[in-house]
Amino acid sequence: MTANEALPVLLDRAALHGALADPVFDSISFLNEIMDRYPRAISFAPGAPYAGFFDELDVAACLRRYTDYLAETKGRTPAQINKLLYQYGPARGVINELIAEALRQDEQISVAPESIVVTVGCQEALLLVLRALCAGSGDALAVVNPCFAGIAGAARLLDMPMIAIDETADGIDFAALEQACRDARANGGNVRALYVAPDFSNPSGAILSLEARHRLLALAAQEDFLLLEDNAYGFTAAPGSALPTLKALDRAQRVVYLGTCAKTCMPGVRVGFAVADQRIALGNGKTGLLADELATLKSMVTVNTSPICQAIVGGMLLEHGGSIAALSHGKAALYRNNLAYLLDALERHLGGGNHPAITWNRPAGGFFVRVRIPAVADTSLLAYCAAEYGVLWTPMSFFHLGRAGDHELRLSCSYLDPQQIEEGVKRLARFLCDPRVLDGKAVQ
Ligand SMILES: Cc1ncc(COP(=O)(O)O)c(C=O)c1O
Repeated sequence: MTANEALPVLLDRAALHGALADPVFDSISFLNEIMDRYPRAISFAPGAPYAGFFDELDVAACLRRYTDYLAETKGRTPAQINKLLYQYGPARGVINELIAEALRQDEQISVAPESIVVTVGCQEALLLVLRALCAGSGDALAVVNPCFAGIAGAARLLDMPMIAIDETADGIDFAALEQACRDARANGGNVRALYVAPDFSNPSGAILSLEARHRLLALAAQEDFLLLEDNAYGFTAAPGSALPTLKALDRAQRVVYLGTCAKTCMPGVRVGFAVADQRIALGNGKTGLLADELATLKSMVTVNTSPICQAIVGGMLLEHGGSIAALSHGKAALYRNNLAYLLDALERHLGGGNHPAITWNRPAGGFFVRVRIPAVADTSLLAYCAAEYGVLWTPMSFFHLGRAGDHELRLSCSYLDPQQIEEGVKRLARFLCDPRVLDGKAVQ
């Protein structure tokens, strides 16, 4: 057979990495596919920012503001600025100082710029931290469950075992976490870290009480694990109501703080960061920082985060006195308004004791509301709802490690305006009052 006659290669998916067959990866492609299939449906599915924010965004002005700052405040020459923006850059990042200043102003987190790594979204930060912490098959990640699909996906990509720790009304199942640490040790392994989103978690909108935050820090010290604090939604807290982050309460470098600019600036910029000020014993009597190790790993993943994208974020920060809170002030107000509108619409269309089998939580911030329904909220029910009622949501089972959440769905309020929310909830109410859904019978 000549080379031209050879059959095209056919790879067996079963021979590729197991993550590809994991339900968490399927769930994301399913949602994308159903949104494409029903473009006119009102979608409560994506946790994406409100698109209207981008109408007036002047990216060129953001870039200019940052380069002016480099020239005027940092004394950089045009050639130095060109090199900084257009060449390969440091794996650790270029706007670290500005991020450190924003964390100081907004969160009372005091860290050196060297302990920050600017990543390609928070997603890369998650991946790098897990890669660094997972040294062997006995190293496990505890995850507050239900959880953001991005953490489950990252752990799965790295074959890092996960232990689900249930979320409770004002915290997490501490007894289960403590037991998981002991069990892991008894089996020769270790719980290296707990992933937790204390402020308006995705998908639950839950917050961790102050007492639970202190308790978690104490347990992390007692059982010797790190806390991976994801704070994607804390900026939506009502003025004066925010609780201190775990990192702000942390006196012993137990917390790796993970940030994203996706919701406060824009997802398209793909900028996030990890604050990793943990000391690393280098084995030669010297110490370094976990951030150094993350930057080393990053140099083999994405090399460096686009300096142009970092400059855009830098310009946006500078425009608002270096504060992410100031930069996202108007956005936070819109999201709070949308959330209040969504909760009000649910009450008007499904509340008042008329549908006791349909219940929902009432988060004080964030993007998400969980709704409990009698039917199994799976992909076939979602497809039925999209086709017959023109409204989309996300099955909560997508966010659970293991089988759970079958009778719940997640609604996101970030992407829509109040008129769309009103119409969407009307459609949702009609759907939920469909006898087949009310009776809890699965749609075939
Ligand atoms: C909990 C959580 N963390 C992080 C992110 C954002 O990650 P990225 O910066 O990679 O867009 C999201 C986005 O949906 C999220 O829900």
